[in-house]
Amino acid sequence: MPVDPRYDTSGLDDSEENRMIKYGYELFTHTPRYIGPENGDRQMVYSGNNLACNNCHLKAGTKAYSGMLIGVINRFPQYRGREDKMGTIEERINGCMERSMNGRVLPVNGKEMQAFVSYLKWLNRFAPEDGKVEGTGYTEIEIPERPVDLEKGKKLFAANCVVCHGEDGQGQRLKGTPGYLYPPLWGDDSYNIGAGMARVITAAQFIKTNMPFGVTYENPLLSDEECYDLAGYINQHSRPQKPHSEDDFPDLRKKPVSTPYPPYADNFSVHQHQVGPFQPIMEYYEKKYGIKKNK
Ligand code: HEC
Ligand code: HEC
Repeated sequence: MPVDPRYDTSGLDDSEENRMIKYGYELFTHTPRYIGPENGDRQMVYSGNNLACNNCHLKAGTKAYSGMLIGVINRFPQYRGREDKMGTIEERINGCMERSMNGRVLPVNGKEMQAFVSYLKWLNRFAPEDGKVEGTGYTEIEIPERPVDLEKGKKLFAANCVVCHGEDGQGQRLKGTPGYLYPPLWGDDSYNIGAGMARVITAAQFIKTNMPFGVTYENPLLSDEECYDLAGYINQHSRPQKPHSEDDFPDLRKKPVSTPYPPYADNFSVHQHQVGPFQPIMEYYEKKYGIKKNK
């Protein structure tokens, strides 16, 4: 449930427009019921896993620093390095469909895409014109100048995460539905290697202000170093491949340093791009290409 009553869809009446907004909210919070692999209608299977958008964009996209989506409509179209072109909001949603949801694109004129966009437009209604809202994206963290410590990550995981996500990282199903009470963090039913969450720096930033479940930007629990080791531990487990991942970032210089799959515009190993240390890679891009990187 959103925290802020302004973003509670349940009070909307049943006008045609509001029905689309409410369907968008439904899709966002119970994604696998409608477009997941177990929804019961083969033609409606678009996501390849049983995650919900809400599992990463918390409180139905309204929680600050969890990839918050208030104002996002006004931030598109925007330049996207992954495709090296201007991208629309529909293309951005489909980016999460193909990566975070390990699935396929939704037809742009179909009811589901239109419902997502209607919901995001509704979330946008108090946002400034430039879409710049406090709490967009993720918090910055100080990235340790060393590789991820997988042993420490494992211990931290046992102490802080296993209660919900399980020792095997597979989470817990929500009984009687295709969705999860606690989502899996790796394995076949998780996000694929092409997802933003598969990057150690992005995952560490997400964990900092959102996990263990209940923490916030104002009240985090774990240190930046702990989040870094946890993110590395999670992302060193296996997860689905992204088809055609070699075609991402036509201009390879724009690829984030912690993207876990090649090719790269540098000679650092794939392993170093996965577990750090990242500073030498960042320094290389700044010196050689004048590009400052932060993820
Ligand atoms: C596994 C986690 C995960 C899931 C599930 C997920 N997303 Fe995302 N989403 C992300 C991350 C991480 C980013 C930011 C990526 C980056 O920084 O490159 C993002 C970015 C976005 C953005 C752009 C945000 C901005 O501020 O520019 C939109 C829109 C979006 N997601 C929509 C969705 C929708 C709709 C769904 C469900 C169909 C979904 N996402 C499912 C992790 C996820
Ligand atoms: C009290 C239960 C709980 C604990 C403890 C917890 N999580 Fe979560 N986690 C959740 C829930 C619930 C979600 C999905 C959020 C939602 O749907 O509202 C989630 C989502 C996530 C996600 C994004 C979704 C995905 O599938 O990848 C990551 C990453 C994550 N947790 C990592 C961690 C880490 C690391 C820890 C330990 C520091 C942790 N969690 C501790 C309940 C928990």
